Amino acid sequence: MAIIDYRVDDGVAVLTWDDPARPMNVVSGDALAELGAGIERAVADEGVRGIVLTSGKQGVFVAGGDLQQIESLGSGPIDAGDLLERTSAVLDQLRRMETCGKPVVAALNGVTLGGGYEIALACHRRILVDDRYAKVGLPEAGLGLMPGAGGTQRLPRLVGVQAALGLIMQGKQLGPEQALETGLVDELAGRDELVPAAKRWIADSGDAVQPWDRKGYEVPGGGASSVTFAQTMMGANAMTHANTHRNMPSQQAILQAVYEGLLLPMDRAGRVETRQFIRVLQDQTARSMLRTLFFSLQECQKGARRPKDVPRFEVKKVGVLGAGLMGQGIAHVSAKAKIDVVLIDRDLASAQRGKDKVEKTLARRLEKGRTTPERMQAVLDRIRPSEDYDDLRGCDVVVEAVFEDRDLKAEVTKAADARLSDSAIFASNTSGLPITDLAKASSRPETFIGLHFFSPVERMQMVEIVVGKETSEETLAKAWDYVLQIKKAGIVVNDSPGFYTSRVFGTFISEGNHLLVEGVTPALIENAAKAAGMPMPPLAISDQVGLGTMHKVAKQAQEDAAAEGKPWEPSPAQAIVASLIEEHDRWGAHPPPREDGSARRAGGFYDYDDDGKRLWPGLSAAMSRWIATHDEQPSAEEVERRYVFVQCLEAARCLEEGVIADVRDGDVGVIMAVGFPAFTGGPFTYIDNYGLDEFVRDADALSKRHGQRFEPPRLLRDMAAEGRRFYP
Ligand code: NAI
Repeated sequence: MAIIDYRVDDGVAVLTWDDPARPMNVVSGDALAELGAGIERAVADEGVRGIVLTSGKQGVFVAGGDLQQIESLGSGPIDAGDLLERTSAVLDQLRRMETCGKPVVAALNGVTLGGGYEIALACHRRILVDDRYAKVGLPEAGLGLMPGAGGTQRLPRLVGVQAALGLIMQGKQLGPEQALETGLVDELAGRDELVPAAKRWIADSGDAVQPWDRKGYEVPGGGASSVTFAQTMMGANAMTHANTHRNMPSQQAILQAVYEGLLLPMDRAGRVETRQFIRVLQDQTARSMLRTLFFSLQECQKGARRPKDVPRFEVKKVGVLGAGLMGQGIAHVSAKAKIDVVLIDRDLASAQRGKDKVEKTLARRLEKGRTTPERMQAVLDRIRPSEDYDDLRGCDVVVEAVFEDRDLKAEVTKAADARLSDSAIFASNTSGLPITDLAKASSRPETFIGLHFFSPVERMQMVEIVVGKETSEETLAKAWDYVLQIKKAGIVVNDSPGFYTSRVFGTFISEGNHLLVEGVTPALIENAAKAAGMPMPPLAISDQVGLGTMHKVAKQAQEDAAAEGKPWEPSPAQAIVASLIEEHDRWGAHPPPREDGSARRAGGFYDYDDDGKRLWPGLSAAMSRWIATHDEQPSAEEVERRYVFVQCLEAARCLEEGVIADVRDGDVGVIMAVGFPAFTGGPFTYIDNYGLDEFVRDADALSKRHGQRFEPPRLLRDMAAEGRRFYP
């Protein structure tokens, strides 16, 4: 069956793309061949005045390139010659379309991304359906890729260099209104009006020449010879270095393609892009990111690891216990998924405060045009604040998000337990208490599970599904169904202290402390973490978490030791935090008020003011009692390697111990939940790319120098010895 249907209507050739073998249209060799043939047929037909390109898939024009084809290139070397030939053929074909002499209109009936939008860019007019699900853009950069079918050449010529760079480098996807405003499309039309509007344009003006092929054309805002162009490129270059620390080859390649391409006429400009596109694919970064952030993430979003034999469970009513930061977020995402929510707190006023926070978040979205008053109201109407546990009757799922306190959690578990039916499940959102222990408060521990959400719940996609010793397969399947219903991605984790993602992340923070205590300068500690690709460096995180919280943990340990009659000494890092608080009144970025109610200034490892934050100049002097100062400092690369290795080793230990069962979960989980550097493709991909042998050798060397935490687990030694990898 054909992928593209060809039909002539009122003197206009309508090409309707509807791939019968796929749920969505993607740019494949076969589809392009049919598109090319369709264009030639229309050009040859004298009765045809113009061409409309549209799609038969509901809500989707063309979702992008065939990423499977790119993934199939694997992790080894690629055949650059073959890729050059294929990419050049696509460029030639699109160039032929825009210079074929007859007007071509893209009637975009929905999602138009990547290669799909590049095809639209080679049309003479773009009309987009005015539907909130419609999105257009070039999102390749988000997967470490770059446009390869002329996108980096046509978009800057259409909307100007600065706007195009912003869109391409950030991989932005715009809805109809923004797309029209930015110039990504020329017109919006209702669903049934698309093709008629396209035909009307062909009849009325139907200009078959692209702006850049017209005499006297100038790039909007200034082309290659203008001062603005030079300034924009310089600014973009500096910003890219600052943001990516050279970790993202695709960002540099996009800049290069735009810069060099604009110096050339359109006929030759595409070749510049192709050269960069191949360079990006030759680097492991793009293929690693693609596998983890597209294919593996998709599995987490579809519940690939949900037990298969349990029938699907539909959640109609959910109870949320605790209307604090996490509880209100969980209520929000549940109500958004059309689930009725009972939001319970200690008293009605506290529960109502939780709902008020949901309202505030929605109001901000409304302001930005991301929701409508009707949709906002519908979400709010589904959330019922309450103080009465009887309101939990009829819930399919209860999620507990009260304070992190075992006794309190046991109390609310029992209160819910008495009101739930046998088919309901109970999930704790504890950030670290063992699920198996918490389940003891339930009369049906097999229905007890952990659902570890991340803050802010509305924005964080990931949920760790934590299986306790007693948790049944049925409960796991039901928890999956809830996670999928609220449109989150899940990974399955076996109960263990810190679960998986926090355990891996914890090693990063504690490496920061090790470095501090070794006398490494705070600036190096922080800058190397950023250069390694961590979103926030360790001392800045300590300030955000609050030094008071960290101090409290240490004091609790001291009290526990005293109660058991054991000696206790603070670690140097704990002593530094204690001194910052007790001697310098520095509590972090969000300090609690003083006992008399007066406000404290923000300040911890950093000073904060309206201009931002800077490391506190007094830090070295304040720390000098606990740490030696050295003239000799490690290199930034050495510190970066420590940050990444320490996390990869912990991830490998988690796999060895059975905390996680699947490396794809392991890679996706830490990138999505705790900001492990995305360009690596995750810890297991990182180890694979580094080489098992080399990784074990370098970890051994770190272990000798810095301590046992760098000792590679047996699993890695065995894999290295046997020449195995995590991925084929
Ligand atoms: P929070 O302090 O913002 O909210 C806790 C809420 O529980 C408060 O509104 C409190 O009034 C309510 N509560 C206390 N006793 C109650 C009772 N008997 N019945 C009903 N509600 C009661 O705390 P947050 O941050 O929302 O944390 C909740 C849970 O989620 C904790 O277990 C925490 O460890 C976990 N968690 C927190 C994350 C975070 O980033 N804050 C991330 C992941 C998990």
